[in-house]
Amino acid sequence: MQPFFLSTPIYYVNARPHLGHAYTTAVADSMVRFQKLMGRKTFFLTGTDEHGDKIVRAADAHGTTPQDYVDTVSAEFRKLWDALGFEYDDFIRTTESRHGHRVQQFLQRIYDQGDIYHGEYGGHYCFGCERFYTEKELRDGQCPDHLTTPEFIQEKNYFFRMSKYLEPLRKHIEAHPDFIRPERYRNEVLGLLREDLGDLCISRPKSRLSWGIELPFDPEYVTYVWFDALLNYITALEWPDGEQFATFWPQAQHLVAKDILKPHAVFWPCMLLSAGLPLYRHLNVHGYWLVQDTKMSKSLGNVVEPLDFAEKYGRGPFRYFLLREMQFGQDANVSEESLRGRFNADLANDLGNLFSRVLSMNQKYFQGRTPSPGPIRPEEEALHVLASECLENYQAHFQRFQFSLGLESLWVLVRALNKYVDASQPWALFKQGQTDLLGTVMYTLLEGMRKVALHLWPVMPGESEEMLSQLGQRASVEQWPHLADEILRWGGLEPGTKVAAASSLFPRLETLKSEKSEAKQAKPVARAQGDKNIGGKPDATPAQKQDETLELLEFADFQRLDLRIGSVISAEPVQKADKLLHLHVDLGEAEPRSIVAGIAEHWSPGNLVGRQVVVVANLKPRKLRGTLSQGMVLAVHAPEGLRLLAPSGIVPPGSKVS
Ligand code: MSP
Repeated sequence: MQPFFLSTPIYYVNARPHLGHAYTTAVADSMVRFQKLMGRKTFFLTGTDEHGDKIVRAADAHGTTPQDYVDTVSAEFRKLWDALGFEYDDFIRTTESRHGHRVQQFLQRIYDQGDIYHGEYGGHYCFGCERFYTEKELRDGQCPDHLTTPEFIQEKNYFFRMSKYLEPLRKHIEAHPDFIRPERYRNEVLGLLREDLGDLCISRPKSRLSWGIELPFDPEYVTYVWFDALLNYITALEWPDGEQFATFWPQAQHLVAKDILKPHAVFWPCMLLSAGLPLYRHLNVHGYWLVQDTKMSKSLGNVVEPLDFAEKYGRGPFRYFLLREMQFGQDANVSEESLRGRFNADLANDLGNLFSRVLSMNQKYFQGRTPSPGPIRPEEEALHVLASECLENYQAHFQRFQFSLGLESLWVLVRALNKYVDASQPWALFKQGQTDLLGTVMYTLLEGMRKVALHLWPVMPGESEEMLSQLGQRASVEQWPHLADEILRWGGLEPGTKVAAASSLFPRLETLKSEKSEAKQAKPVARAQGDKNIGGKPDATPAQKQDETLELLEFADFQRLDLRIGSVISAEPVQKADKLLHLHVDLGEAEPRSIVAGIAEHWSPGNLVGRQVVVVANLKPRKLRGTLSQGMVLAVHAPEGLRLLAPSGIVPPGSKVS
């Protein structure tokens, strides 16, 4: 089994960590834990980026020295990572000497081979970005990120011959389709490579900035902060001849958000090519966390403190929310309401409820011992097949960083187990004295729950260990079964194992006042189409309806409705229509359907992709705000928000609902 290396960006210490930094690190921690359970030897690297103008200015603003300042803020990052349960293998700081001397060694190597030259340069320098901009890159003469006018600086500097490696890099990206993923970012990089990117200025004169790593071949200069920072990925592994470097570098993967795509997808591979080092395997790129569709920023005062949520709702549920709510690669909105909604719907209602009812029934029927399974019926066989599919999907999605889809696959199993309780009615079997069959049912449930708990460890390690302990599984993680073996195996739980008498894992959160007033307006059935009712005045409740003369339908009338299951393959906002989303839904036809749905206030586009929905497929097409809508998605207004109707298990797109 190949080793696995994953890095986060090393974070700037010019500001305190917020939810965005916590997300990337949570993803890395979960991914590394997942790979551990898949049996791989792992290395998880994180750290802080501590050189450059920004840091000096932040230290000045705090009336302290750069060194004191970086020590304080870097320690805050570590404290937060510990509080959130992240188990990194190394935390590198660019001000450490183990990093500095290796950066110099790297620079010397590529200087000696002629890839660095001294030249005159005049350019528009943005201090916020710590980089030069070309005329073409500026927007109305301003930095596109900071909206400030850059300073024109003319000076002699050192340049890295990046242009020499751009074509080999392009070829590598063409030949390795998942070198940069998801695909939209690969396309973005290929687009960048079509522009004339030229060489990279990699020095700053000490007269202007001294807080950096001195160039080994000219003491008048320090190294450009990005050139210094990117090298952390190999200096931490003790390049050039460390054992860790030999073991892990060939399997390296990086994790970043889209803001730092260019340095990672262009500068870094060119640097590696210049030094004759193998390129990393994958660059995994995620989107931004937004607050009401706006980027989080200190100046807007909308920064979300990760520890507040983790302390209030538990770090496991908080991590679950982060990974479940964001479709990897796309932006997502964060709000306390959506966190509470997820908590109640997924953790309290689905998972917590399953544990609580099954364990208390098992206490009553088998005095808390795992029974031996009796005869296996088609119901159990079907559940075994479903479980295999769910776990296989979960593992395949996790391998590709698609955590939201992976967790959704796992929840298909959780919900199926809850349904199986309802359908098999253990209480009736108990009454009728059908002990053998009751043994089958309870064993099936407990074994299914063990599988779910095991697969939750990467995301909610503490809660997963608690669930496993309730199921009598107390071995340490290293002795756990490999996840891949769990797909087909049904019987990991030893009959006779003592399990807990009760469980109260995720007590339901009380409805907040604001949520109550929304619930009052709830309506039983809503049409999630660009329908005027959505988000507007609710329909009459069933009670009100009964007072009116209800028109009863003939069965033939109902049959005229063509209801189909579709898979959402894309979702995006509709311009100038706050309530509408434009979906493309696969109904198993030659082309996906274009559907406009009035669900934007309840669903972020990222959360829809990959879901299955129920579509009214034979509505007359119509245009909504200029966009063609060829169907309607069915939904229910629930107190937790708008719930979409879906089949209880994944079915082929286009399946008819009858
Ligand atoms: N120091 C550089 C990285 C050097 S890596 C060799 C840097 N630091 S940073 O502190 O600005 O961190 C940027 C990263 O923080 C993003 O790429 C992402 O991982 C994380 N995030 C910061 N804000 C975020 C959001 N609002 N949403 C999602 N991730 C965010 O750039």
